[in-house]
Amino acid sequence: MYATPFLDLPPLHSAGGTVNLPGSKSISNRVLLLAALSDGDTTLHDLLDSDDTRVMLTALETLGCTVSRLDDQCVKVRGLGGTLPVREARLFLGNAGTAMRPLTAALALLASTHGATFELSGIPRMHERPIGDLVDALRQLGCPIAYLGHEGYPPLRVGTGVPVPLHLQAPIRVRGDVSSQFLTALLLALPLVATRDVAIEVVGELISKPYIDITLSLLQRFGVNVQREGWQRFTIPAGSRYRSPGDVHVEGDASSASYFIALGAIAPATAGHDGITIQGVGLSSIQGDIRFVEAARAMGADVTGSANQLHIRRGAWPLKAIDLDCNHIPDAAMTLAVMALYAEGSSTLRNIASWRVKETDRIAAMACELRKLGATVEEQEDAIRITPPRTWRAARIHTYDDHRVAMCFSLAAFNPARLPLRIEDPKCVAKTFPDFFETLFSVCEARPSDIPVICIDGPTASGKGTLATAVAAALGYHVLDSGVLYRLVGLAAERHGLPTDTDAISRPDVAAQLGALAATLPVRFEAGRVLLAGEDVTDAVRTESAGMAASRVSALPQVRRALLDLQRRFRTLPGLVADGRDMGTVIFPDAPLKVFLTADAEQRAQRRHKQLISKGIPARIEDLLADIKARDERDTSRQDAPLKPAEDAYRLDNSAQTIEQSVQQVLAWWQATRPFEGG
Ligand code: DC
Repeated sequence: MYATPFLDLPPLHSAGGTVNLPGSKSISNRVLLLAALSDGDTTLHDLLDSDDTRVMLTALETLGCTVSRLDDQCVKVRGLGGTLPVREARLFLGNAGTAMRPLTAALALLASTHGATFELSGIPRMHERPIGDLVDALRQLGCPIAYLGHEGYPPLRVGTGVPVPLHLQAPIRVRGDVSSQFLTALLLALPLVATRDVAIEVVGELISKPYIDITLSLLQRFGVNVQREGWQRFTIPAGSRYRSPGDVHVEGDASSASYFIALGAIAPATAGHDGITIQGVGLSSIQGDIRFVEAARAMGADVTGSANQLHIRRGAWPLKAIDLDCNHIPDAAMTLAVMALYAEGSSTLRNIASWRVKETDRIAAMACELRKLGATVEEQEDAIRITPPRTWRAARIHTYDDHRVAMCFSLAAFNPARLPLRIEDPKCVAKTFPDFFETLFSVCEARPSDIPVICIDGPTASGKGTLATAVAAALGYHVLDSGVLYRLVGLAAERHGLPTDTDAISRPDVAAQLGALAATLPVRFEAGRVLLAGEDVTDAVRTESAGMAASRVSALPQVRRALLDLQRRFRTLPGLVADGRDMGTVIFPDAPLKVFLTADAEQRAQRRHKQLISKGIPARIEDLLADIKARDERDTSRQDAPLKPAEDAYRLDNSAQTIEQSVQQVLAWWQATRPFEGG
């Protein structure tokens, strides 16, 4: 997950390959609740692990439910089976509508029958999302519910601690035109009290009907068969009771699939690939958003698939504009709004009033951000009309703590003007798809020259490594510590019994052997560890003697040439910070930012001394100073790629700076190279 303040996407060029989607949010939170309300144990496979499911899991545990994590995506829930071990609790539900609404209904009923009391709250935005229609419906049953903030919105208190009788005779009337989650909440909760037939009547035109289908189909899996008359009346038969089906497999999230369906429709296929394959969700999905496939096809996407898989290729190009009632795919329709940027003509998405009460006011948010890219957007109360940009602009996309805004806008990185794109607060995708950007990068290609590199060159012990790591962490970029590669050559030579002293390496046969060794260096970088032929050499490469050997072998043109490609292969999405001696001069001469870091030799000797001592490695400052001077001399005087600042490098003497000051300076230089308006 990218937890940086922003993530810059370089212009993307092509896409191809296979993605595995995380589990559906709607299904995950429904089955978690159903499992908790059932008799018996339920094992949930491929469950989504995200912010919204985590708040649900925590809430269920707080309510006394036993939850065991079998692995990352597999959870076993021991159902409460009609009991209520905890009679008083406060539940924090973040911004998860799929937890807030059903838990409110289920707990209101349980509190009434068992004489319990619960408080439900969330983040400030959750307290702006309406729940009044659900509360009104529950009050018809006799459930005591109090608003703890504003009338009609969470936080809420359900129950008073004293049992109250429920009025189940008359049909319960609930509005269906604000959020289908109110009806879902009642459908999930009422089987808990169905001592007689209980009827629900929907008032107003029911929106987002496919989500009700998911609810009904999952209820059935847990043993409850709801009778439905059109979309107006639903009856839960007397004697309904939840029974665990044992194992439940959660489908991949169809709304999340929309980004990759759109990707396949927008991106030219990467050489050697035939479009995008999506695993985990397919044409027989029970999720309504699978019908995004039809909308994408209408815009020109070539989508084929089977029960559990989809395959997408670019079809019509440019895409075809559409005018579509999106009531059946409210979430995935946001992806259409971004696809509309690549269409010929204006597209209109209608009947999307529910966008206004989601994670943010999505109509306003989409309009504002699409305009930043240069699109012309007309915003109506329940519709949006988008005309593609005549001239694209490099935009900073504000994401409103709304995962879908972040995910759908990343598709704008395919803009024909080849402008980069900034996604602010990228971690908001954690609501439903924590690894969204990693997954996107795994199937996207950018031209290497479009992938930004920040070069940090300088003499030994100048603090390059520390600075590079901090800058990379701030930007979400990869790091290349090129010195390690030369150190590894020295170490590999030692392991092979090859000499690296100055006399030996001046012999052509030894030089050639060292070059060959460098060309086939069996190195892997894994979770901060350095592995040489499988051996963990993280500490061994850091010793002074490894540094000296590196300095000697690095003077050989054969070794430098052999490491060239290996170093350039580190230039991958979304960007790279590379430190060394010749990053700016030889390896990445086209890098948009080059920094030449220095500090006086005494300072560097002291820093290295501190570093070694802290690791328990004995050292004397005088020896270190002599080593540093010797290495400076060799690194700067060698024939091939000597240590020197690139002509276009910024010089940074950090002798009197804190690390934080140097980091801020480099980030400020970096911002100045970015084309985003306002820096
Ligand atoms: O940065 P370092 O101390 O880990 O580097 C060890 C040696 O490797 C250094 O003395 C010179 C050589 N080196 C190089 O020649 N070119 C680089 N890009 C990085 C390191």
